[in-house]
Amino acid sequence: MTARLVVLISGNGSNLQAILDAGRSGELDAEVVCVISNTADVYGLIRAKNAGVEAIYFAKQENESRNEYDKRLADYVTTKLPDYVVLAGWMRILSSSFLISFPNRVINLHPALPNIFPGTHAIERAFEAYQRGEIQHTGVMVHLVPDEGVDNGPVLATEIVPINKDDTLGSLEARVHQTEHILLVNTLKKFFKKK
Ligand code: GAR
Repeated sequence: MTARLVVLISGNGSNLQAILDAGRSGELDAEVVCVISNTADVYGLIRAKNAGVEAIYFAKQENESRNEYDKRLADYVTTKLPDYVVLAGWMRILSSSFLISFPNRVINLHPALPNIFPGTHAIERAFEAYQRGEIQHTGVMVHLVPDEGVDNGPVLATEIVPINKDDTLGSLEARVHQTEHILLVNTLKKFFKKK
């Protein structure tokens, strides 16, 4: 059965694009029914509109608490009847006020290996750690989001990304993103088949 997806983003949306493309080509048996950004005017929203998908900037209201925002977001997402919620570059921690509505149905992508460099600027931090001789490679992961742990939860897939001597931050970022686009689609494909 075609999986209905709501995708949450905060920026460029290249991973959203990978999902949209895979859905359109039939590689992934999924339909993106709504894309929501917590940031205004991001390119990911344009990608969604270009694909004919509902694209929403979901702004935090003045005086609204984190829990209130998350509950309002959950209520909105629920109206879209998603099978899964995919966090593809969503740079905001979701509280249980959101997660309680989608147990085992929120999937996050992160540009680092489990328990290494959670949070923001993960690729930059990996690049700097490599230069200090602390790591030999970095990676990407896809995992379920059971609670408020940052980039943490049952791992669905990981992929190592090598770092080369002549890498710049830009070349490493490009390699990480390329790896993410493939890993995210392949992992969703396998995950949906198992269900
Ligand atoms: C991706 O690298 C994703 O893994 C990362 O944001 C980027 C979004 O790129 N997410 C996190 O760091 C989550 N902690 P995109 O907007 O081009 O898909």
